[in-house]
Amino acid sequence: MFFSDNNKHLKMDKKLKGQCAIVTGASSGIGQAIAIELALNGADVAINFHSNDEGAADTLQQVQNAGAKGILIKADVGREAEVLRMYEEVYKEFNTVDILISNAGIQKDNPITEMSLEDWQAVLDTNLTAGFLCAREAIKEFQKRSIPQNEKRSAGKIVFISSVHDIIPWGKRTNYTASKGGISMFMKSLALEVAAKKIRVNSISPGAIRTNINDESWKDPEEAKKMLDLIPYKRIGDPEDVAKAAAWLCSDDADYITGATLYIDGGMTLYPSFEEGA
Ligand code: BGC
Repeated sequence: MFFSDNNKHLKMDKKLKGQCAIVTGASSGIGQAIAIELALNGADVAINFHSNDEGAADTLQQVQNAGAKGILIKADVGREAEVLRMYEEVYKEFNTVDILISNAGIQKDNPITEMSLEDWQAVLDTNLTAGFLCAREAIKEFQKRSIPQNEKRSAGKIVFISSVHDIIPWGKRTNYTASKGGISMFMKSLALEVAAKKIRVNSISPGAIRTNINDESWKDPEEAKKMLDLIPYKRIGDPEDVAKAAAWLCSDDADYITGATLYIDGGMTLYPSFEEGA
């Protein structure tokens, strides 16, 4: 059948039809792209954001253009009360949740001697504690469902958006790397804990993706060159590179995958400086 470009969403095999997703930090960058991609795959989306009202409205518009339902939820997911309120709003609108994309993330870089406790805590709260709070509430809902063990579908899916810096150390970013390293063990332990309930828990660890968080490193041509030196595939990633993988990971095509970390980094984790041998 022929579809025009205006009906891009109709071309897709809607693998997430009838499901409801929460995407945290969805007003820009990777979170925004994931919210739209999930919608293109048929999911309704709760679009969480912290302060970028305009970006969130843009995400909502694109979710609706994809033919899905969306709601905006302004909340600081590092705070317990706000996470509880977010879930209440989701249940009021969608009754349930099937997918959690824990994506909200910030950087507050500084050398160790100049790193304030406030900046340490802010990064840990948004990047790690928020994942715990959002996952805990999602699991409470997922475990109400009982899926026969041999069926190739799950009772719920969680994807943490981490970073290559869950394994690549990074100077002057000790708060950020500690939070991402923390996600890695939290994700695996949680995956183990809830696997028998047919709940899947995974991470995606992106490398250099063109978003606001690292715009100083790709807007300036000299800085972009330095960045490309760290990417064997010689291309800075786009949010869609991550979003497409996230949608697949949430689909039943990935039903046997749990406790895994998918590196989407153009080879950044392949020790680029060893390309030519010693
Ligand atoms: C960071 C970016 C950085 C990328 C690769 C990401 O986790 O947020 O600032 O460009 O890792 O180093």
